Amino acid sequence: MVNTYDFGLVGLGVMGRNFILNVADNGFTAFGNDLDEEKVNALIEEGGNEEKVNATSSVATFAQGLSTPRKIMLLVPAGKVVDIVIDNLLPHLDKGDIIIDGGNSFFTDTDRREAYLQEKGINFFGAGVSGGAKGARKGPSIMPGGSRDAYQHVKPIFEAVSAKYKGEPCVAYLGPKSAGNYVKMVHNGIEYGLMQLTSEIYDLLKKAGDLTNEELHRTYASWNAGRLQSFLVEITSEIFEQKDDLGDGHLVDKILDKAKQKGTGKWTSQNAMDLGIPVPTIDVAVSMREISALKEERVKADELYGRPIPESVVKKTLVNKAESALYFAFIITYAQGMHQLADASKEYGYELELGEIAKIWRAGCIIRAALLADITQAFKADAGLQNLLLSPSFLDKVQETVGATRELVAYGATNGIPLPGLSNALTYFDAYTSSRLPLNLIQAQRDYFGSHTYERLDKEGIFHTEWED
Ligand code: 6PG
Repeated sequence: MVNTYDFGLVGLGVMGRNFILNVADNGFTAFGNDLDEEKVNALIEEGGNEEKVNATSSVATFAQGLSTPRKIMLLVPAGKVVDIVIDNLLPHLDKGDIIIDGGNSFFTDTDRREAYLQEKGINFFGAGVSGGAKGARKGPSIMPGGSRDAYQHVKPIFEAVSAKYKGEPCVAYLGPKSAGNYVKMVHNGIEYGLMQLTSEIYDLLKKAGDLTNEELHRTYASWNAGRLQSFLVEITSEIFEQKDDLGDGHLVDKILDKAKQKGTGKWTSQNAMDLGIPVPTIDVAVSMREISALKEERVKADELYGRPIPESVVKKTLVNKAESALYFAFIITYAQGMHQLADASKEYGYELELGEIAKIWRAGCIIRAALLADITQAFKADAGLQNLLLSPSFLDKVQETVGATRELVAYGATNGIPLPGLSNALTYFDAYTSSRLPLNLIQAQRDYFGSHTYERLDKEGIFHTEWED
């Protein structure tokens, strides 16, 4: 069993086990490693043929069993565990071997690990993997970043196991250093935005249109058959159908309205702030998870303030407008995420090709959507596109849906239904498309109280005024 297996995987939790079985399904031999003997045995049993899929709890046996250069993927929790696993592996590796971190690691950790391993002659990849447990088993979207040369060794395996969109693999070499983890982080930021939007539209349809769960199921299912076709809209329609197996009625009505988070959405927002890129729809999606956590306070405040009784609306009209508004806000959310990627690419030297990124998001990942085919086209047509909103191919899509968005945002504000994702998307759009904003006044205020200076529209240079004179 020396140097035989094509691919190694450390961390045989659900994701790891599914990924390794996917590798084996695609004709590669795979070797798993986990300290937990139960997980090791479970994989051997499920693999069915030890020549194709095997596992061990011994790091030495694991490393010996892999063909060189070793290709070892880690699917372990982000954070310290990744460093521990790397240090455990190191004594058993040779120069030229490749370690791939497939978790949601913070991108600066990936840069640090890459530099550390480079000194030892080991190639390190940060590869975002999206698609959950099912994706890992049947075909995820994979976002690798690291050394372009070393990627050639991993490429055949990743292309085979990844999801396919019309036969094209949903994986591509994205760029050096932490490019892969960075792209996955922004993917998750977009994921937060889309999830917030689908949820608030549900709230609106329920409170303003009195839609039952059956109607919500049918509405989201019909949207999924149209331009809103996407994984998140699809699973949303299925969620409304699910009966509660512990009681009467539908499960969705029994789930506590407090959303948890592991941090990737927050990182996207934080880093966007650092870079000076506006991503307000993603920011507010993070804030809404934080507001959701304040359940007890919300209950008290609801009793204190109450809210208006929503004016009645025609159900069909509401549903049509909601479809338009959701489409509009989806576009804006992708636009913000892509904008962040474009700027981060310059800042961190990732040399990202946005068309390639949209392309590998078309299948396998959580934010896959019909819209991504259009986004791919827009960036293929103009690789330097500053913002999706400036693409001629998006003009009509946005113009046609912004009116309904305005009406719903106004309705939500009048009737006390929070639509923060939708209204932020609209505000972003209105601000981004304003040739003149009132920030001249902010400059005047800054100069007034702090002599911070300002520029003028009509003359070159830096100016200061003694305002109080
Ligand atoms: C994916 C998901 C995956 C995970 C999220 C959940 O692309 O497969 O994004 O990575 O489900 O990290 O994130 P939160 O726990 O922060 O919602």
